[in-house]
Formats: sequence, C-alpha cells, structure tokens
Amino acid sequence: MTYRNTKILIVCMLLLGALVLAQDTDIRLPGNNQGYEPEQPIAFSHRLHAGELNIDCQFCHYGAESSRHAGIPSASVCMNCHKTVTAKFDTVLIERELAEVEGRDPRRIISPELRKLYDAVGLDENLQPTAEGGTPIEWVRVHNLPDFVYFDHRVHVARDLACETCHGPVGSMERMRQFADLSMGWCVQCHRDTPAIPGGPAEDHASTDCAACHY
Ligand code: HEC
Ligand code: HEC
Ligand code: HEC
Ligand code: HEC
Ligand code: HEC
Repeated sequence: MTYRNTKILIVCMLLLGALVLAQDTDIRLPGNNQGYEPEQPIAFSHRLHAGELNIDCQFCHYGAESSRHAGIPSASVCMNCHKTVTAKFDTVLIERELAEVEGRDPRRIISPELRKLYDAVGLDENLQPTAEGGTPIEWVRVHNLPDFVYFDHRVHVARDLACETCHGPVGSMERMRQFADLSMGWCVQCHRDTPAIPGGPAEDHASTDCAACHY
C-alpha cells in the first residue's frame, strides 16, 4: 500500500469515527444548517452596511485574501465610523430640527444598538472612556464546518470567486444567515465544474482528492 493510500484510509477511518461519535453524543452535524440565522448580540445589518452604504466586504473581513479565515471585525473597525455616527441619520435630523424650534443645542442621540457597541469598547454616555473598560462583543458563529474538513478562503478569493457565490445575497440580509448547505456535494460539485487553471479545460478541474479537504 502506498503512503498516499494509507493516508486516505486513515482519513476515512477518522471520519467514520467522528461520525459515530457525533451520532452517539448527539452533536449536531453541520452541513444541513442551511438558512441558520441566529440572533446576534447587536442587530448588525449587512443590508445597511454592505448593501445601502456599499462598504466593501473586505474592509471588515480583511482576512479573506490573506488567511484561512475571513475573520469577524473587532469593535475598533466599527469605531472608524461610529465615533461620529451615534444613531441613524434621520433620528439625528429630527433632533436637530426640534432643538432649533426649542432654541437649544441639539442633544447627542445614541441608538440602543450602538449603545451596546460603546459598552463593548468601554465608552460612557458622553463617549468618554470608562474606568472599567469594555467587554468584547460575542458574535454568534453562523457557519460551522466540522473540524475534519479543511477550508481556506485564500485559494478561493485568489480565483476571483465573489463572496456572494458562496454566501448569497449578503447585501440584502438584515440578519446574517447561512446561504449554502456547506455539504460535501456542494464543495465537490463546484470543484468538478471549475478548471484548476483559470480558463483551462474543465476536465483538469479543481481538486476532488479526499486529502485536499480532509487531512
Ligand atoms: C461594516 C463591517 C462589515 C461589512 C462591510 C461586511 N460585514 Fe460581514 N460581518 C460583519 C460582522 C460584525 C459580522 C458578525 C455578525 C453577523 O453575523 O451579522 C459579520 C458576519 C459575516 C458572515 C458570517 C460569519 C459567520 O459567523 O459564519 C459572513 C459570511 C459575512 N459577514 C460576509 C460578508 C460579505 C460577503 C460582505 C460583503 C457583501 C460583508 N460580510 C460585509 C461585519 C461586516
Ligand atoms: C468558495 C466559497 C466561499 C467563498 C468564495 C467565500 N467564502 Fe466565506 N466561508 C465559506 C465557508 C465554507 C465558510 C465556513 C468555514 C468554516 O466553518 O471553517 C465561510 C466562512 C466565512 C466567515 C466566517 C468564518 C471565517 O472564516 O472567519 C466569514 C466572515 C466569511 N466566510 C466571509 C467571506 C467573505 C467576506 C468572502 C469574500 C471576500 C467570502 N467569505 C468568500 C465559503 C466561502
Ligand atoms: C464605513 C462606516 C461604517 C462602519 C465601518 C460601520 N458602520 Fe454601522 N453604520 C454606519 C452608518 C452611516 C449608519 C447609519 C445609517 C443611517 O443613517 O441609516 C450605521 C448604522 C449602524 C447601526 C444602526 C443604528 C440604529 O440606530 O439602529 C448599527 C447597530 C451599526 N451601524 C453597527 C455597526 C457595527 C457593529 C459595526 C462594526 C462591525 C459598524 N456598524 C461599522 C456606518 C458604518
Ligand atoms: C463556487 C466554487 C467552489 C466552492 C463552492 C468550493 N470551492 Fe474549493 N476551490 C474552488 C476553486 C476554483 C479552487 C482553486 C483550484 C485551483 O486553483 O487549483 C478551490 C480550491 C480549494 C482547495 C485547495 C485545493 C488544492 O489542492 O490546493 C481546498 C482545500 C478547497 N477548495 C476546499 C473547499 C471546501 C472544503 C469547500 C466546501 C466547504 C469548497 N472548497 C467549496 C472552488 C470552489
Ligand atoms: C472539496 C472538498 C471535499 C472533498 C474533495 C471531499 N470531501 Fe468529504 N466532506 C467535505 C465536507 C465539506 C464535509 C462535511 C459536510 C457534511 O457534514 O455534510 C465532508 C464530509 C465527509 C464525510 C462525513 C460524512 C458526511 O457526509 O457528513 C466523509 C466520510 C467524507 N467526507 C469522506 C470523503 C472521501 C472518502 C472523499 C474522497 C473521495 C472526500 N470526502 C472528499 C468536503 C470534501
């Protein structure tokens, strides 16, 4: 038996083991979580930020091109804008008009959702640093491939696959949801259909070797 075959056999045995274990212990196997749309600690809207405001995906997910994980931005990335944007523009305008009518200075309006962001970076109601500091936002993971699958954003982004090919119409999602089923069939189907070299012959396609995705 060649080294390679041995490796594949070991991979298969490990996978079967993982499957048995998962069934025994009732761990939810990902792959059929299509549509999973968990509530998040802050009602962050991709529709607003990526859609309406048209902020580039990689402004926030800057890992996608250079590392395995696209990454979730830290609150400091949000603060680039939210140091000054403390509520929706409409709300701020209404307060400005009211203040003018009432002959006073407009009050700073902080929306409840953005208040949570300021708590996370440790800013008080006047946006001054608090003594206690902040607590990181605990975003709930939406996509969860099992540990025995290897996925890397780099190779895919380098091939100019748009984020939306795999993540769907993110610019219209009020709350993030899992678009694809993330099944093995989904991965392998695209690998079979996509030439290994851009513009190359389809029979010379992206890898379908077990060991490419399972090690
Ligand atoms: C202003 C920053 C920002 C921009 C721009 C942005 N995102 Fe996000 N993204 C986030 C944050 C914060 C989360 C975590 C909260 C959530 O899931 O909504 C997230 C979550 C995600 C997730 C789910 C991650 C997981 O938990 O599995 C995907 C996929 C994603 N974004 C894709 C995109 C794509 C594609 C674009 C561009 C069309 C984009 N994002 C633009 C900030 C951003
Ligand atoms: C070929 C399909 C594909 C493409 C293209 C793709 N993703 Fe992903 N993305 C995935 C898969 C699969 C996962 C789940 C990975 C895991 O659970 O380890 C994922 C997970 C994520 C996550 C959460 C976990 C992490 O890696 O940090 C974010 C955020 C994300 N993608 C953003 C993006 C953005 C932004 C782009 C475009 C620049 C993009 N993705 C392009 C398939 C893709
Ligand atoms: C490039 C600028 C920019 C970045 C970066 C950005 N935002 Fe925003 N965000 C805005 C603007 C502008 C608005 C208000 C849009 C409006 O007037 O409707 C907004 C609105 C919001 C709202 C809605 C506020 C309300 O009153 O309901 C929330 C919540 C929010 N952002 C959270 C975040 C989080 C969390 C991050 C970081 C992951 C982030 N934003 C990053 C520009 C940004
Ligand atoms: C929409 C198409 C598409 C989807 C969906 C997709 N891939 Fe890919 N994948 C590609 C392309 C294109 C390449 C690059 C092929 C090349 O350049 O040789 C690639 C390359 C890879 C590589 C590197 C292979 C090597 O031998 O270097 C791995 C690993 C990989 N993908 C894993 C996955 C996994 C795991 C999934 C599913 C969770 C997935 N891919 C889903 C298109 C896709
Ligand atoms: C392009 C990536 C890719 C390739 C190539 C690939 N797999 Fe998978 N495989 C996956 C993903 C993603 C999952 C998890 C999806 C799920 O649980 O439905 C998975 C799950 C599995 C499972 C767990 C059972 C299941 O369906 O959940 C086994 C066993 C398995 N693969 C064996 C193999 C073997 C054997 C090969 C080679 C013939 C192979 N895989 C090639 C991506 C791949």
